[in-house]
Amino acid sequence: MRLQKYMALAGVASRRKAEEMILAGQVTVNGQPITQLGTQIDEHKDIVTVNGAMVQIEQQKVYIMLNKPSGTVTTANDQFGRKTVLSLIPNQAERLYPVGRLDYHTEGLLLLTNDGELTYRLTHPKHHIDKVYQVTISGILDEDAQKSLCEGVLIDDRKTSPAHVAIIETTPQKTTFHITIHEGRNRQVRKMCEAVGAPCVKLSRIQLGVLSLGDLKVGEFRNLTHQEIAYLNQL
Ligand code: URA
Repeated sequence: MRLQKYMALAGVASRRKAEEMILAGQVTVNGQPITQLGTQIDEHKDIVTVNGAMVQIEQQKVYIMLNKPSGTVTTANDQFGRKTVLSLIPNQAERLYPVGRLDYHTEGLLLLTNDGELTYRLTHPKHHIDKVYQVTISGILDEDAQKSLCEGVLIDDRKTSPAHVAIIETTPQKTTFHITIHEGRNRQVRKMCEAVGAPCVKLSRIQLGVLSLGDLKVGEFRNLTHQEIAYLNQL
């Protein structure tokens, strides 16, 4: 985008006036004074200042809930060329970022937004939001294993904080249960299950705070409701 257009959209001045300001040396891009009219900038990346003050286009904030499929990465790009979650959300005018991470093989509730401030707050370790995962293991989760998961197990030399476990279904072949944790350690649920000798065969995040996947199918996404956005903003 041309610099004077950016300045006009950011509400600095009309395009004509913006041009005068550029010619007068009042504008910098990434710290470099720019006096050339028609200079192109990347409105997503470049930092523009006018008389020393940063100017920005007010972006429309977008908040999306995706039911992430297994076999996708939650990074914006993947060095191995694997499918990213962003590729599942086509025709998106705004540049979105996943809030936190889910493993390649994990499914479930993932938020995507262009609200950097919210992303920062939600992923900050001091924010202990309850997360509920649906776990399937092969065989039976015996009482000792269940108790250990609840009381805390050692992973990476540190005990996990108390968790809640609710059994959903048990057959001789497999057990499905819900586990609620509020930490967000790397591969935490998988490592907890391994630590009690019950490796996960399927893992899906079904709830994040009061946000719930509901009947959103794997691979589908939807915009958050006003209430959901208000909930996130008051956390
Ligand atoms: N715990 C895991 O082990 N994997 C995830 O993706 C999320 C939580």
